Amino acid sequence: MTTPRIEFDLKPSAHLLPDAEREAVLAAPGFGRHFTDHMVTIRWTEGRGWHDARLQPYAPFQMDPANMTLHYAQTIFEGLKAYRQPDGSVAVFRPEANAERFRRSARRMAMPELPVETFVEACDLLVQQDEAWVPSEGEQSLYLRPFMFAAEVGLGVRPANEYLFTVIASPAGAYFPRGVKPVSVWLSKEYVRAAPGGTGEAKTGGNYAASLVAQAEAAEHGCDQVVWLDAAERRWIEEMGGMNLYFVRGRGEDATIVTPELTGTLLPGITRDSLLTIATDLGYRTEEARISVEDWREGNADGSISEVFACGTAAVITPVGTVKSADGEWTVGDGEPGEITMRLRDALLAVQTGRAEDKHGWMHRL
Ligand code: PLP
Ligand code: COI
Repeated sequence: MTTPRIEFDLKPSAHLLPDAEREAVLAAPGFGRHFTDHMVTIRWTEGRGWHDARLQPYAPFQMDPANMTLHYAQTIFEGLKAYRQPDGSVAVFRPEANAERFRRSARRMAMPELPVETFVEACDLLVQQDEAWVPSEGEQSLYLRPFMFAAEVGLGVRPANEYLFTVIASPAGAYFPRGVKPVSVWLSKEYVRAAPGGTGEAKTGGNYAASLVAQAEAAEHGCDQVVWLDAAERRWIEEMGGMNLYFVRGRGEDATIVTPELTGTLLPGITRDSLLTIATDLGYRTEEARISVEDWREGNADGSISEVFACGTAAVITPVGTVKSADGEWTVGDGEPGEITMRLRDALLAVQTGRAEDKHGWMHRL
């Protein structure tokens, strides 16, 4: 059965932020602090499916105190970026991949699945409408945040019978204010992010709520970020709070780029997936494998692990410089951004910003 196409009702705002104010924001966007003039919403109601698709002025929601999301957190989100291209046009990086992951997250959280083409169209409509908000400097972008939450009012614990899908957009500069300076990480043994059978693979708010206390613990130890270990043995490296991890074994042409395999408890990052391809294109061997804390510490000591970096939509590629844990600390390589890390970073950004050929059809042009 084919789903009928969802028609959008377009209600652009008569009151846009004045050009000068928008330009001031674009000059130093930061991350997730400013939002564009519009948003897209689509409602889902049991028995009726998706309806009332709208492009409308960005505005607060009115929420009933008994809204089910506020109590039981049935909510999912995505993060993807639109980039200004050299000819002035705009292209979104792999929106179909985010749409597919959004469907998988929805399934895990017992929520309705939005068709991929509707997800992509909703993002397109918002970017087209607020195109003036897409920055054009360097690696800046327009970060798109699609999300969905339960909209039913009531306190019964069960899947809601009504949901609201929304897309908002925010101009983005560097996620880490210090740019590509290596970050320090804390290996969390006390807290876990996700256990087998849990929600680690889904992009759902609760995973992030659960991470905050460990993030605070990392900060207490002078670290920027937490690295999560597996729940059962507290031994295997999984990922960071909002990024996947990569390890470079060996050096130069002979290097192998290794990332923790997808075990069901970590988020299958789209940047992670893209880098497996880009690294292969650049001639490196790639591997998805389990990496333990001992492997990391020993590989660091004997020099066989030469570089480590984190990757994600918001953070792009960020080198890891220092590692701290309850059992000791070490510096990765010489503590500076690694050569391969920076090469991969540049290759990824070159595709996204249209400076390199889009060999894999990743850029979705508007
Ligand atoms: N891991 C977590 C927990 C994340 O929140 C993110 C960000 O989306 C990632 C990894 C990286 O995923 P992606 O590359 O799709 O942004
Ligand atoms: C992203 O990279 O899109 C993320 O979701 C990371 C973080 C902002 C939650």
